[in-house]
Amino acid sequence: MTGPSTGLSEELREKVSDRASYVSVIDRLSKASVDKHWDAYADVPWDDPDCQVDPKDPRWVLPPTDQLGATEWYRSQPVEVRAEIGLWRMATAMKIGLQFENLLQRGLLTYAYKLRNGSPEYRYAMHELVEEGHHSMMFQEFVNRSGLPIRGMPKSLDLLAQIVPWVPRLSTEMFFIFVLGGEDPIDYVQRKTLKSGHKMHPLAETIVRIHIAEEARHISFARHYLKHRVPRMNPVRRKVLGLLTPGVLGIMARIMLSPPGPMVRHYGIPKDVVREAYQSPPARAQIRDCVGKLRELAIELGLVGPVSKRLWRANGIWDEPGAGRTADRPHARPRASSSAATAAAGAKAGRREEAK
Ligand SMILES: [Fe+2]
Ligand SMILES: [Fe+2]
Repeated sequence: MTGPSTGLSEELREKVSDRASYVSVIDRLSKASVDKHWDAYADVPWDDPDCQVDPKDPRWVLPPTDQLGATEWYRSQPVEVRAEIGLWRMATAMKIGLQFENLLQRGLLTYAYKLRNGSPEYRYAMHELVEEGHHSMMFQEFVNRSGLPIRGMPKSLDLLAQIVPWVPRLSTEMFFIFVLGGEDPIDYVQRKTLKSGHKMHPLAETIVRIHIAEEARHISFARHYLKHRVPRMNPVRRKVLGLLTPGVLGIMARIMLSPPGPMVRHYGIPKDVVREAYQSPPARAQIRDCVGKLRELAIELGLVGPVSKRLWRANGIWDEPGAGRTADRPHARPRASSSAATAAAGAKAGRREEAK
């Protein structure tokens, strides 16, 4: 297979008003998985001398766009410490990523188990499963090579997370909301890092580019699945989905973006620095922004009503549509002041998607 492209793959975004247009999207995603996929060992230059993982390598230093990398405390540390913290952060993100992918893979198997013969979703779910397998191997190999005592998800969530593989039995729509809750925030952060022009370590850059390219398809599948299924849901189940969505997204975004506890303890990072990096207004804005596309999708799917909107706010992930379109927040739409205007903006976003 060829190396990951220098451009960033964009998600396929289409209106799926009928079964035929939905199936056509799934078929194209399946074909794209055959045409463009990467192997964790054949396509990552693990043995390239330039790609060796040395915790003291200054190429691991966090960019100023990173919330911790921007703090005075971090910038005053010796370069070897800054490098090691940067590597620790990246390896932790990969460890949490592979644990998430493990839950996702098991959930995809639960989902696929019940699919009928000839289902286009079955083939795509299997492509996604294989791709996630390669991501998991790639991420674990990176963690192993860091030589650092990397831990993954916080223990408190470990038990709760074991419910996820069974969620498709209760609601496939809820399962794909969870999938997007894990995939979208990490995709947002990875794209932002690449677009910032920050010179990454070449091994990390290859892994991130492969991941972005394949995740674009996974995200497309989950989005189109929801666009196809949610409007056909029983109204009571749809209401429940709307009420559970903000909690799931709020937890997922924080798991992906929060500081690793063992790292904070290991380097004795002062509490006020952790607060500055992860609870300051820019850090809170990043949490809101990384679920921006999901917020738009939830509005479009009719999953945001007066009560669920309160839950989005309580989870710190609500932003009024159009709260300011900036380079950092390209998904923000023009300001709308009423729910009618919000619905109109949602429809407009749909037309925009159709035109892509
Ligand atoms: Fe993945
Ligand atoms: Fe994925």
